[in-house]
Formats: sequence, C-alpha cells, structure tokens
Amino acid sequence: MWKLLGICLIIGIIDAHVTFTNLKCNNLDKNFSDIKTCRIKAVNRTHKYIDIYVKMMQLPIDNVTINFKLMRFDGHGYKPHFFDLTYDACKFLRSQNSNPIIKAFYETYRQSSNLNHTCPYNHDLIVDKLWTGNLDAGFLAYLPSFSGDFAAYTSWYAYNLLRVTINFYLKITY
Ligand SMILES: *[C@@H]1O[C@H](CO)[C@@H](O)[C@H](O)[C@H]1NC(C)=O
Ligand SMILES: *[C@@H]1O[C@H](CO)[C@@H](O)[C@H](O)[C@H]1NC(C)=O
Ligand SMILES: *[C@@H]1O[C@H](CO)[C@@H](O)[C@H](O)[C@H]1NC(C)=O
Ligand SMILES: *[C@@H]1O[C@H](CO)[C@@H](O)[C@H](O)[C@H]1NC(C)=O
Repeated sequence: MWKLLGICLIIGIIDAHVTFTNLKCNNLDKNFSDIKTCRIKAVNRTHKYIDIYVKMMQLPIDNVTINFKLMRFDGHGYKPHFFDLTYDACKFLRSQNSNPIIKAFYETYRQSSNLNHTCPYNHDLIVDKLWTGNLDAGFLAYLPSFSGDFAAYTSWYAYNLLRVTINFYLKITY
C-alpha cells in the first residue's frame, strides 16, 4: 500500500485542475446537529468554494470518528477507489503523526474551518470558503493521475453514532 502511494506521489499532479461539481450533506440525528448551510459558490468561471455550517445541539464533543472514502465514477455510479480510511479524529488532532493521507485530508480544510484544533469541540462547525486550490496541493497528490469524476465521501461519527455525512464531488482534468 505505502509503496503504491510512493509511486503516485512521484507521478505527482502538479498540473491537475480540480473543480467541485456537487456537494451533498446529510444530517442523521436532528437532536444532535442541524445543517444550516451546505453549498458550493462560484466566484467566477474557474473558482468555486464550499461553505458548510453545522449547528450543534449537544456540546461539548470529545469523541469523533471520521470515515474518509474516495470514490470514482465509472460510467454507472461512484465506486470505491484507492482508499477508505476510518480514524479517531480527536486522537489524530492530538498527535498528527498518522497516515499521510489523513494528514493531507486535514490540510485541505485546516485553514478554512474551525475544526482545526484539538478536542473537545465546544461550538458549531464551520467550513468557510474551502477552495479547490487547497485540494491541488493536498490529498490529490496521493491519487494516480486520472482525469475523471471523483467523490470524497466523508462520514462523521460522535460517540460511535453516525451524525453527518458530507460528500464532495470533484472533476479532475489535466
Ligand atoms: C430526539 O428527541 C426527542 C425528544 O427528546 C425524542 O422523542 C426523539 O426520539 C429523539 N430522536 C432521536 C433520533 O434520538
Ligand atoms: C477567479 O477568482 C479568483 C479568486 O478571486 C481569482 O484568483 C482568479 O484569477 C479568477 N479567475 C478568473 C478567470 O477571473
Ligand atoms: C484555524 O483556522 C483559522 C481560520 O479559520 C486560522 O486563523 C488558524 O491559524 C487555524 N489554526 C490552525 C492550527 O491551522
Ligand atoms: C467514543 O465513544 C464510544 C461510545 O460511547 C466509546 O465506545 C468509545 O470508546 C469512545 N472512544 C474514545 C476514544 O473515547
């Protein structure tokens, strides 16, 4: 697995163009959270960003598990592609020496959200102006160089219960 990742890193994706094509947020427990904002905004023809606002009803939260799964569109539907990771987010935030893909995923939203500190979370969750530019430099470096339609499916658990899913749909071109 790591050898394969190394090869993909060398192939690199310096010239990839990434654009968000869709965003789907799903709230599974209305007693726990409420998604107020979930949108892609186009600044101009080439630049789009994502805004997410999740209002929290039960704070603080100090137990978060994230499942992060890459999907690729194969003409019929989105199929699992290359990686599918589940990790203890609070533990990751404490130490950050972890799987490089998890770290790269975190780097894509670290500067654009208020989830960028150690647990507990004692506030609503905000992603503000997440750019595809961040993705170019981030976890996409771990993908084999394919043009196409991809999605990052993310599932957010607190205390082992699935609370929110957020799916990011992307088009990658070279
Ligand atoms: C949410 O809270 C209400 C009132 O306390 C309760 O009746 C309901 O079952 C709860 N729903 C879930 C999904 O826990
Ligand atoms: C689109 O907006 C971004 C951010 O403001 C800017 O950097 C970029 O040059 C703009 N692109 C075009 C084609 O106007
Ligand atoms: C967290 O994000 C804010 C902006 O939302 C930024 O000012 C701050 O430097 C970030 N902290 C870390 C550790 O990245
Ligand atoms: C998170 O909460 C679940 C359910 O209460 C518990 O089983 C698990 O051990 C907790 N994880 C951590 C790291 O505390």
